[in-house]
Amino acid sequence: QLDELEFDNVQIDQHGPIAVLTINRPRALNALNADTLSEIAQAVNMIIEDAEVGVLIITGAGEKAFVAGADISEFGDLEGVYDGRELALAGQDVMHQISSLPIPVIAAVNGYALGGGLELALACDVRVAATTARLGLPETSLGLIPGFGGTQRLPRLIGTGRALDMILTGRQVKADEALSMGLVNYVADNALTRAREVAEAMLKNAPIAISLVKEAVRRGMDTTLEGGLEIEADLFGMTVATKDFREGVDAFLNKRPAEFQGE
Ligand code: CAA
Repeated sequence: QLDELEFDNVQIDQHGPIAVLTINRPRALNALNADTLSEIAQAVNMIIEDAEVGVLIITGAGEKAFVAGADISEFGDLEGVYDGRELALAGQDVMHQISSLPIPVIAAVNGYALGGGLELALACDVRVAATTARLGLPETSLGLIPGFGGTQRLPRLIGTGRALDMILTGRQVKADEALSMGLVNYVADNALTRAREVAEAMLKNAPIAISLVKEAVRRGMDTTLEGGLEIEADLFGMTVATKDFREGVDAFLNKRPAEFQGE
């Protein structure tokens, strides 16, 4: 059982097909120290091996923060170019692991999502913000640039102009503005509750199609329109070969809800 796994800084709760991974260091506003990053990576590996899990939600413990960034108290150990590059690559690996999962990943942003915390939310597929959430990339105020994917994923999500404004000013964006710029998909009083509702909607759809959509979008972002359309046609072809496609069409024609098996 996933929820019986013991971690120091991460907690997993599983209810049927929904797994919730909570970053649990509220005394440091859930900042990502090296141990926490490594535990996230281990937890995500375990979640993905559980065939029952169809959606992963990532959130932060406590009222105040989703994740307030990389752990600044560990920065004193960093020396020079090589250490900095290693830290960035270590964080980027975990973010990449999350963004390339075959199941949907939803960030329930329950408070501050700053620096590495916003970068974690950006590695998820969909973001739900609490009304109290504050999102930003304040790295330049520390003499850094974002290192866990922020300079790359943020402009891809909201456009270069808005991303550069956020990064160059380091300002904290409130939930409503985040919604209006497409930085988050939903705003709700309780981010986790809304994230569960979004997860339920996704779980009604065919799992193979869900996974191939993610692959098509992800691979398409890294190529030309022409190349992306070829990827789409290939993956569309794969969905047509599934039992779930037959089930979806039959259910529609017979005016009944589809029951997908992931085959
Ligand atoms: N790392 C380590 N500890 C952190 C932290 C972080 N990123 N953010 C908060 N904390 C700790 C604080 O040091 C404080 O600990 P103590 O109680 O032991 O003093 C505790 O969490 C509570 O924080 P505050 O007292 O500061 O709470 P606040 O309400 O006054 O402010 C805040 C909240 C605006 C989020 C403020 O904590 C803050 O600015 N945090 C840092 C945000 C930041 O700069 N993040 C980017 C980090 S760099 C990065 O992420 C690089 C990258 O791209 C990978």
